[in-house]
Amino acid sequence: MARPYQPSLLRLLHGGTSLLVMVAWFSGLAVYSQYDGRWGRLPLVFKGDWIDIHGSLAVPLVPLALLFGLYAISLGRRRLNQPANAVALVALALAIATGKLMHEDWLREGQVQHLIYSLHLLGWVGISATVIWHLSSILKLGGLPLASSMISLSRHKGDQPRDWPSQIRRYFKTTSPRP
Ligand code: HEM
Repeated sequence: MARPYQPSLLRLLHGGTSLLVMVAWFSGLAVYSQYDGRWGRLPLVFKGDWIDIHGSLAVPLVPLALLFGLYAISLGRRRLNQPANAVALVALALAIATGKLMHEDWLREGQVQHLIYSLHLLGWVGISATVIWHLSSILKLGGLPLASSMISLSRHKGDQPRDWPSQIRRYFKTTSPRP
């Protein structure tokens, strides 16, 4: 059977987004433990300003996730036929959109009653559940070879960074209606 291969542009956007999502996930847990804790707290070793740290992660995450989302619904659309891929994208969109609408002073002032904050917490839980589903579905579908194809650094001929503009142009050429 042929080794699974993922386009290099997808690997860059998917890798960057998932790394930042994972760091944001942990820093979000620290924010919750420091400022909310209604359902229990984690003992924090580092008592820094977790809201600032969590908010700073949004600066690179928002544009990267936007590009990743655009890739997924266009060039990568076929992969979204897998429900576990599609729901991971929806959970990501919910977590990021509600995070952008949060006011950083709400939690500092003990205001945990805002609907947007509840939806942001739901996005955080959603990311946890859907990424577990996403990973187990990938392992079930293609095992370790499929999972590692997303973090591999190898590049086929015709899939170098200089080929990305022509890949995008080809996608739009084949999907645009013929005159
Ligand atoms: C941490 C958050 C993650 C999110 C939000 C996420 C989201 C997604 C999405 C939306 C797709 C579809 C992309 C497209 O349509 O072009 C996808 C594909 C994929 N992801 Fe992830 N992912 C995450 C983590 C991971 C991790 C850690 C791995 C394992 C190394 C992984 C392996 C894969 C693979 C192999 C595919 C392609 C599956 C296929 O060809 O059907 N993902 N991911």
